[in-house]
Amino acid sequence: MLAKRHSVSPTPGCTARFCPYRKPVRDLLPSHRPGLVLAPMQDVTDLPFFRLMARHGGPDVFVTEYFRVTADSKPEPTILRSIAENDTGRPVIAQLIGQDAAALVRTTRALEDRHPVAGIDLNLGCPAPIVCRKEAGGGLLRHPERVDALLGALRAAVRGRFTVKCRVGFDSQDEFPRLLEIFQRHPLDGLTIHARTVREGYRTAVHPECVAAAVATLPCPVIANGNVVDTATGLAFLRQSGAAGLMIGRGAIRHPWIFDRLRAVWENRPVPAPCGRDLLAYIQALYELTAAFQRSFDPAKHVQKMKRYLGFIAAGTDRDFDHQIRRVNTPNEFDSVCRHFLDHDMPLPETPPADSNVFCGFTALTQPVTT
Ligand SMILES: Cc1cc2nc3c(=O)[nH]c(=O)nc-3n(C[C@H](O)[C@H](O)[C@H](O)COP(=O)(O)O)c2cc1C
Repeated sequence: MLAKRHSVSPTPGCTARFCPYRKPVRDLLPSHRPGLVLAPMQDVTDLPFFRLMARHGGPDVFVTEYFRVTADSKPEPTILRSIAENDTGRPVIAQLIGQDAAALVRTTRALEDRHPVAGIDLNLGCPAPIVCRKEAGGGLLRHPERVDALLGALRAAVRGRFTVKCRVGFDSQDEFPRLLEIFQRHPLDGLTIHARTVREGYRTAVHPECVAAAVATLPCPVIANGNVVDTATGLAFLRQSGAAGLMIGRGAIRHPWIFDRLRAVWENRPVPAPCGRDLLAYIQALYELTAAFQRSFDPAKHVQKMKRYLGFIAAGTDRDFDHQIRRVNTPNEFDSVCRHFLDHDMPLPETPPADSNVFCGFTALTQPVTT
């Protein structure tokens, strides 16, 4: 089943209970085009990364990497910095992960009372085995009754915007209708769907029909996530789901211009076409900004951190670049390999290779839909 195509007029208002503090996520999104959100990514989407994305056009909304919430946890200071020192001019939603309702409520109060958060988001999608074993993140999807209880507790506690980021099920997307029934019971201010099951990890195509079902069922804005790697996949996901916006993660690490390119398409202006040297400048800025953010700088460790970003960035560039960057150990080696392959003015490929083992299954979004 395919829902209506994306409409540029706002979707109908949230039917949430009256609450003097409540503000819909719709307020954070532009009314004339689909919204753009940077996906939360642990060890990636910190304050320097927010700043760098904003420099390249960036999303409309940021979401922090998750605060791990347990009975005796305190909000992680580094993640708090991405809220307290956010100078991008864009709002930041704080994401929580956990399964202890009292602890989640306590953390919500601490964040909303003391920090300028634009909302609280609950992670119902993390597939990491260590998280799922503790019945948190994606692991909670195996226990719909617990999801129901947690959403009840959090909806009552969150004074501002309360959003959820989920997958479409744990083992199968057939679990999604039951999840939607639960989401309907707790007036959410927004729902982001990484449209794969937990079992599917990052390996498969996404299920846009699940996002379409959520759009047709819920009164709040629904944001589509997963496998948006370029403008074509972004536009196709919106067309197939009717979502109010896109959340983009790995595609933004690889190509920080992705948000601005989408905006340019919607605003009917020339689409930015960066070249090798622009990518080099982005990598150099990422190196400098993330290095300056660390309390104690260790060059060798920093090169390893950069190599994790490069795992996404190198996809679609010269294969030898990917090969050589995996082997560098020192800042000098890192710099000279980047310069060797990227110090040129040829346009960058916008799309990763179809056989990429980092970006899997994205071509399904742009293949003709069979009914
Ligand atoms: C390195 C990495 C870290 C992630 N950390 C989080 C996280 O803290 N919270 C969360 O909800 N999702 C997390 N995700 C999932 C992303 O937010 C997103 O749902 C997923 O990458 C699919 O979107 P994409 O295809 O645009 O990357 C992470 C993904 C990656 C690759």
